[in-house]
Amino acid sequence: MLIRTHTCGQLRDTHVGQAVTLNGWVNSYRDHGNLVFIDLRDRYGLTQLVFDPDDGAPPEMMEAADKLRNEDVVAVTGTVRIRRGGENPKLATGKVEVVVAKLEVLNKTENPPFLPDDLGQLPNEEIRLRHRYIDLRRPKMQAILSMRHRVMKVTRDYFSENGFLEVETPILYKSTPEGAREFLVPCRNVPGTFYALPQSPQLFKQILMVSGADRYMQICRCFRDEDPRADRQAEFSQIDLEMSFVRREQVMQMMEGFVRRLWGEVAGYTVPPMQRMAYRECMERFGIDRPDTRYGLEITDISAVAARTDFKVFRDALAKHPDARPFYSKRGYVKAMRVPAAQAGDKLTRKVTDGYSEFVRTFGAGGVAVTRLNASGVFETGCAKFVEPVKADLVAALKLEPGDFVLIVADTYAVATKAIGELRQRVARDIGVVPRPGAEGGPWNFLWMIDPPMFERNKDTGKWVALHHPFTAPRDDQQEAFVAAAEDDDQTIESIVSAGYDVVLNGSEIGGGSIRIHDRAVQSKVFQLLGLSPEQAREKFSFLLEALSYGAPPHGGVAFGLDRLVMHLMGTDNIRDVIAFPKTQIGADLLTRAPSQVPEPQLKEVHIRSTWTPPEPGAAR
Ligand code: AMO
Repeated sequence: MLIRTHTCGQLRDTHVGQAVTLNGWVNSYRDHGNLVFIDLRDRYGLTQLVFDPDDGAPPEMMEAADKLRNEDVVAVTGTVRIRRGGENPKLATGKVEVVVAKLEVLNKTENPPFLPDDLGQLPNEEIRLRHRYIDLRRPKMQAILSMRHRVMKVTRDYFSENGFLEVETPILYKSTPEGAREFLVPCRNVPGTFYALPQSPQLFKQILMVSGADRYMQICRCFRDEDPRADRQAEFSQIDLEMSFVRREQVMQMMEGFVRRLWGEVAGYTVPPMQRMAYRECMERFGIDRPDTRYGLEITDISAVAARTDFKVFRDALAKHPDARPFYSKRGYVKAMRVPAAQAGDKLTRKVTDGYSEFVRTFGAGGVAVTRLNASGVFETGCAKFVEPVKADLVAALKLEPGDFVLIVADTYAVATKAIGELRQRVARDIGVVPRPGAEGGPWNFLWMIDPPMFERNKDTGKWVALHHPFTAPRDDQQEAFVAAAEDDDQTIESIVSAGYDVVLNGSEIGGGSIRIHDRAVQSKVFQLLGLSPEQAREKFSFLLEALSYGAPPHGGVAFGLDRLVMHLMGTDNIRDVIAFPKTQIGADLLTRAPSQVPEPQLKEVHIRSTWTPPEPGAAR
């Protein structure tokens, strides 16, 4: 085989006259009478090859060149010269071409299902994923793979320079049903027992702190058996970090330094000092704990004004726990969003706003009340007649201008906030105020969300759940409130603030963490609040509770979503684009056809009997 001397992205006019060997794929083929032009491609770029009998190409080589087709794999030796047909300024190698003297066909291809070309129409994602090896040949995908590599490299550089040790933690782990559903792995040696794949290395990194590792990092794989979404995969990667002898401030500074270094090195962008926004403020202004601050459409609590209307929807909502403390999840609220006339244009038609009522019903709200202040300053359409009597106050509260729309949701605090927060994002997309992602020139708005509550009630089970995870400590000034919190007092428990924090970028959570509980008694109390009996706590977490009793230092950390960082840096909103071999919406790997059935003896070996029976052929599913 002719071994390459250069890559396909390397040759410049300084190489003119040199004999070179290139290896790669036929990217395109042009036959100009008796000349053949080939663009040869590898990961590094494209180089134009010329097969020309006038330049000494022998007939058998011309014949072989003539038979070349897209995606054949070849090696060529030839001489570099200035392009005769004029420079191609779009290519780094666009000044030169290689006049081929020797051609070796390394592998012919079958007719490919599609061409790895970013210019033409891509086939649907299913075909791309089935033939991922072709899809990944596209320059855009190659750019993503190298961005991912650079992100990992800068990560290791930064944290290594700051004294973090990279430590690998187990993939075969213990089942500790917290948060998402787990993937189970049967254990052959101990019949009837299972490992679980880790949802994150959370407890190992904490135990590493008890072990004196002081600063830990790992680029690790996490597994959560939940339905994949645009920014979520069942198998994904984290940049996992933990530090000892710190409080929130030290962790946040270290992590902000990382984000600044990363964006500086790979995107040439200087991240300004990151805004910090308390959870409460996020919820009040944006209706979500990861606000997208690239556009306005902020939310206003208009409960006081709404209370003076005769609108039953508002009054019924406001009758729910009216004397409870503010922000109590079951207390009634009326929340409104102003959509300025200039942004709404003519996009918020009746049909569209009817759709919004449907939309918020999926979050448990009854609907959206819509109205508009017309050019003469009179409310028209929707709930106009109910709000007209309180116009002055509503206009003042929402700073309304003629032509503006008002969208209103009335319900309990939890439902109204969630519904209008989701609606805000939907409206922003509909009226086109969401800038394109950062890599395409839009802004990168980073912020820290701080001071989230420790607990919330799960709306399905009614049980307390930890908002982040059960190892998160109360904020330093909340320790006493936490210890005093009575189990049956919803309002007090809900109001305890944790030492957690998230890193948010353009409305997406790119990282999250907290200061941890390092006191065994506090940890036991959290388990108790979450409804674990002392026996259950011991059964699931004895290793943690024991470790905490043998000299656990104060510690805290963060995990960044590696895939999400790369998504932002590459300006894509599809997580599958930034993972070499991703899974589909139903968790399938279309390339290898996983998951798959296994033969009976293999199941028997791990003491598993499947209760699933294949449907009869032709039976309705
Ligand atoms: P958390 O569950 O918030 O925290 O995860 C940390 C970050 O990982 C990313 N992420 C995901 N990315 C892709 N697909 C998923 N299914 C997915 N789930 C999460 C997000 C998120 O911010 N052990 C804690 C961290 C800590 O407390 O230090 C943890 O896992 O960007």
